[in-house]
Amino acid sequence: MSFAATPLSILLLFFFFFTSPLSPAAAQLPPKPTNFSAFSISQSPWRPTQNLILFSPNSLFAAGFQPLPKNSNLFVFSVWYFNISTDNVVWSANHLSPVNRSAALVITRTGQLRLDDGSGRNLWPSNSNVSANPNSTQLILRNDGDLIYGTWESFQFPTNTILPNQTLNGTTIVSNNGKYAFKNSVNLTFGAERYWTPGNPFQIFLIEGQIIINNQTPIFPSDFNSTRLRKLVVDDDGNLKIFSFNPNLRRWDVVWQAHIELCEIFHTCGPNSICMSTGSYNSTNCVCAPGFIPDPRGGARQGCHRKLNMSNTPKFLQLDFVSFRGGVKQISLQTPNISVCQANCLKNSSCVGYTFTFDGSAQCALQLDILSNGLWSPGMKIAAFVKVDNLETDHSNFNGMMYKLQTTCPVHITIRPPPVIKDNTTRNILIISTIFIAELISGAVFFCAFLKRFVKYRDMARTLGLESLPAGGPKQFTYAELKTATNNFSTCIGRGGFGEVFKGELPDKRVVAVKCLKNVAGGDRDFWAEVTIIARMHHLNLLRLWGFCAEKNKKMLVYEHIPNGSLDKFLFPKPLPSDSEKNETESYDEIPSLDWNIRHRIVIGVARAIAYLHEECLEWVLHRDIKPENILLDNDFCPKLSDFGLSKLRQNEETRVSMSRIRGTPGYVAPELVKLGSNWMTTKADVYSFGMVLLEIMSGRRNCEMKRSTVESAEWYFPGWAFEKAFVEERMEEILDDRIRDEWESGGHWGIVNRMMQTAMWCLQSLPEKRPSMGEVVKMLEGKLEIAPPEKPSVYFLSEHPTTS
Ligand SMILES: *[C@@H]1O[C@H](CO)[C@@H](O)[C@H](O)[C@H]1NC(C)=O
Ligand SMILES: *[C@@H]1O[C@H](CO)[C@@H](O)[C@H](O)[C@H]1NC(C)=O
Ligand SMILES: *[C@@H]1O[C@H](CO)[C@@H](O)[C@H](O)[C@H]1NC(C)=O
Ligand SMILES: *[C@@H]1O[C@H](CO)[C@@H](O)[C@H](O)[C@H]1NC(C)=O
Ligand SMILES: *[C@@H]1O[C@H](CO)[C@@H](O)[C@H](O)[C@H]1NC(C)=O
Ligand SMILES: *[C@@H]1O[C@H](CO)[C@@H](O)[C@H](O)[C@H]1NC(C)=O
Ligand SMILES: *[C@@H]1O[C@H](CO)[C@@H](O)[C@H](O)[C@H]1NC(C)=O
Ligand SMILES: *[C@@H]1O[C@H](CO)[C@@H](O)[C@H](O)[C@H]1NC(C)=O
Ligand SMILES: *[C@@H]1O[C@H](CO)[C@@H](O)[C@H](O)[C@H]1NC(C)=O
Ligand SMILES: *[C@@H]1O[C@H](CO)[C@@H](O)[C@H](O)[C@H]1NC(C)=O
Ligand SMILES: *[C@@H]1O[C@H](CO)[C@@H](O)[C@H](O)[C@H]1NC(C)=O
Ligand SMILES: *[C@@H]1O[C@H](CO)[C@@H](O)[C@H](O)[C@H]1NC(C)=O
Repeated sequence: MSFAATPLSILLLFFFFFTSPLSPAAAQLPPKPTNFSAFSISQSPWRPTQNLILFSPNSLFAAGFQPLPKNSNLFVFSVWYFNISTDNVVWSANHLSPVNRSAALVITRTGQLRLDDGSGRNLWPSNSNVSANPNSTQLILRNDGDLIYGTWESFQFPTNTILPNQTLNGTTIVSNNGKYAFKNSVNLTFGAERYWTPGNPFQIFLIEGQIIINNQTPIFPSDFNSTRLRKLVVDDDGNLKIFSFNPNLRRWDVVWQAHIELCEIFHTCGPNSICMSTGSYNSTNCVCAPGFIPDPRGGARQGCHRKLNMSNTPKFLQLDFVSFRGGVKQISLQTPNISVCQANCLKNSSCVGYTFTFDGSAQCALQLDILSNGLWSPGMKIAAFVKVDNLETDHSNFNGMMYKLQTTCPVHITIRPPPVIKDNTTRNILIISTIFIAELISGAVFFCAFLKRFVKYRDMARTLGLESLPAGGPKQFTYAELKTATNNFSTCIGRGGFGEVFKGELPDKRVVAVKCLKNVAGGDRDFWAEVTIIARMHHLNLLRLWGFCAEKNKKMLVYEHIPNGSLDKFLFPKPLPSDSEKNETESYDEIPSLDWNIRHRIVIGVARAIAYLHEECLEWVLHRDIKPENILLDNDFCPKLSDFGLSKLRQNEETRVSMSRIRGTPGYVAPELVKLGSNWMTTKADVYSFGMVLLEIMSGRRNCEMKRSTVESAEWYFPGWAFEKAFVEERMEEILDDRIRDEWESGGHWGIVNRMMQTAMWCLQSLPEKRPSMGEVVKMLEGKLEIAPPEKPSVYFLSEHPTTS
């Protein structure tokens, strides 16, 4: 099947929709053919050789015997989209057992509807006899494609397709190849193994394109509310998709699919092989695990087998970022550490390997008999260990996982609990100095190792994830529409590095923020592709992109409008001297001070959004400019991160002009970028910026402002200073926002503040490798991951220029 959506074709599509908006399909019907509009007992029997067709009143659907493409002597009784020539079949009675010329569809004198295969066998799908009064009942095809005889309807016996207007009532659909099923409208399965679920069952597929789910937000296809022909299908590749017919290019486009990462689908690759994304949205690659060779008949997609039979002395090969999932032949264990996990696998003779999760959960899963559903996914801190014969010479080519530096320290450093308990300061200083020296020694070594891995990681990203195209797109607005919506761009609500932001209201009363981009590089095609990627990122804590405009060199993005404004307004109520020209009129007494619970919720929300960008998106997205101005607060103070993905839009321009070596905002930029330039941008630089924001959320002061007001020294460094205050001097109150210091001193929030402080210190480590991943930061803030005692953040290592590889 070919349903690829190239940017060009999608642009054409938009052209189509916006030039002929929502013209009903029925308005362009061809003249009605002379075949029958209903099949009754007087026309019975209906034979394949008669070439008769039953039409729906609107001529959109047709039903009848269709010859097989490969054998015109065999027929399937089907319902299809009449006007479409490719993949038009939406239902069939007997696709698993085609009939020959002697078959017939009959209505018997007793009123039973039968598909007789010529030998008396009835192939009509039903749980019981399909009977009705033959004098008053006809077989009819409704306008929505539902074939009806009496109380029997084809919508109750779907094959692999659900049509718009079809109610799902615990309905099961099965892929044509019989391998995959969407069971009870809730579980996408391969055999007994489930690999996707919407949560609650689907209820109805509406004409406008959305799927209604019990007690849940509906699923919206990207062409929602356009009058296209659609179908929901369990495809032969195991994905659940909504297809939409593109009338200009006369082909089906995928406008929604359950799994964007196709390797998540079970049995995409055979036993002992590993599925790898190819960067395309409709294909995958299968490779054998090291120590295995492809099946001689079908290659790695069919599966792989051992090169060397196992002797009694096995060894394990480590496959970074690889997991084997699901399947009945897997045992999950909770083990204290990886050695115990491995020992369990060695004990069990049918164990062929195990996977171990390094995210703190220490989950161990033994794989029995075969390695199934292998998947390479660099977003997960997981590794597989494959048991091979001791003589096996293969090496693992899956590597590059960044291990967190192991710090073992018997004493936990925490900030002082408010009821004053004197601790042994000298001892703490001793511990800190020890760590500091260890850090000095390990720093150089680890940084070089990090560089090597980083280069590999970046190349992997280039070859694998970055070319993929989305299955749909955001709404395109015309310049005129946005001009009207924003009342001729009259209400400016923000001014940022990317351009001005105006408030507006769409005709449907949605309030929006329209960002007018300046200096956007690349052509409309590139712009469209980038915008589509941004629009595809859905997370509660990410600002929603609703649409865009690309017209006459004007490029704009249309976002949901968040009335409360950005976090900086709440954190730093006094305007900075340098911003005095901004003419702030707001009375600062009216701005509520955020309490610890709200601050905690904000940091967790922001951390989750960044973790989503780093680890869960199909493509790794770096934010590059995390700062309070880019964190918006909605009415419940639920944070929404904005400006993600935008730096991509300007990438080309910046490399060409090369005016500033560093992207981002001074004060929030990670030290390695300051020292080495933007090419060293990794996810860990975002972690640093987040750490700085976290510290500001606690202190209620800008890191730069702090310096001006409290300390004079040129060596002064906010994170290092905060570390000293919190863990050495034990004068936490000097750091915290004085508006809520009382709450802290009453002691109720010690746990939260302690966790936030320790997490911030880890995020602000000068060695990128020492900073936790954003997923770990989320767990630290949530209290799900024990936090090792932090080390003092410093900028020392950057004075040494590392040897570049
Ligand atoms: C994937 O899409 C491309 C076009 O983008 C098409 O040529 C190719 O046949 C498709 N592959 C599959 C497996 O559908
Ligand atoms: C059928 O296809 C023709 C083009 O082949 C088109 O003009 C017409 O509008 C289509 N009719 C329907 C009902 O989609
Ligand atoms: C039924 O309709 C099809 C398609 O319009 C046409 O080719 C065929 O000749 C019609 N058959 C009869 C008996 O009218
Ligand atoms: C048609 O199929 C039926 C059932 O499989 C079989 O009994 C019959 O002999 C076949 N007729 C011809 C002409 O092949
Ligand atoms: C269906 O009808 C056939 C003949 O008309 C009869 O032999 C059979 O028992 C009926 N089955 C059921 C379940 O009603
Ligand atoms: C259908 O009509 C025929 C003749 O009009 C009659 O004999 C027969 O009983 C009717 N069948 C039913 C089920 O009403
Ligand atoms: C949609 O379904 C409802 C209820 O099943 C039916 O009454 C209506 O006619 C259908 N709409 C179309 C366009 O067939
Ligand atoms: C759905 O199925 C349940 C139980 O099978 C039945 O009671 C209910 O009437 C059905 N609803 C519809 C709309 O068909
Ligand atoms: C869906 O799958 C889950 C987990 O396998 C199972 O607990 C649940 O009963 C299934 N639901 C249905 C309706 O099949
Ligand atoms: C769908 O589009 C029509 C016409 O533009 C509009 O009247 C209707 O409100 C839209 N429906 C939804 C749910 O957006
Ligand atoms: C592995 O063992 C099987 C039988 O257990 C044997 O058929 C096969 O030849 C052996 N393979 C090798 C490479 O020794
Ligand atoms: C792993 O855990 C076991 C049991 O708690 C312990 O005996 C062993 O020393 C641990 N191994 C390592 C390397 O920490």
